[in-house]
Amino acid sequence: MTTIRDTKLIEIPKVHDERGSLAVVEKEVIPFSIKRVYYLYDVPSDSYRGGHAHKEQESIIIALSGSFEVIIDDGKSSKRIMLNKPTQGLYIPTHIWREIDNFSSGAVCLVLASTTYDESEYVRNYKEFKTQFVE
Ligand code: TYD
Repeated sequence: MTTIRDTKLIEIPKVHDERGSLAVVEKEVIPFSIKRVYYLYDVPSDSYRGGHAHKEQESIIIALSGSFEVIIDDGKSSKRIMLNKPTQGLYIPTHIWREIDNFSSGAVCLVLASTTYDESEYVRNYKEFKTQFVE
């Protein structure tokens, strides 16, 4: 069974000088190859996103701008993690339930995904998540 101990925060290397900062996501720092990139923006602060697990997809979530909180849940225990640095990525393996809330104004949530979009590999019902991946 996948547990929240299999998630991890990944430090994204950056180059900083007086002109600003540049962060680089290269294949060496992430545990899968990227098939898709998407991002959430213009998110109302009381919005709730996520609320699903994946049969196949692994992902990395990065707060490119602003902040928000990610709740990760393996069906036995859960943890709330604030993301607020563009140099920090939260790696979430398959079979982990995630929710995202507490978006700051101007927050941009970047997701690097190991699969192309396929609704049939989503599990959007928490009970079904527990039945399929936990019990
Ligand atoms: P949803 O899964 O609800 O977003 P979140 O994980 O942030 O809660 O997706 C919102 C809508 O966008 C839903 O109709 C599916 C669609 N969608 C795509 O068409 N392609 C994608 O790559 C993603 C992630 C979502």
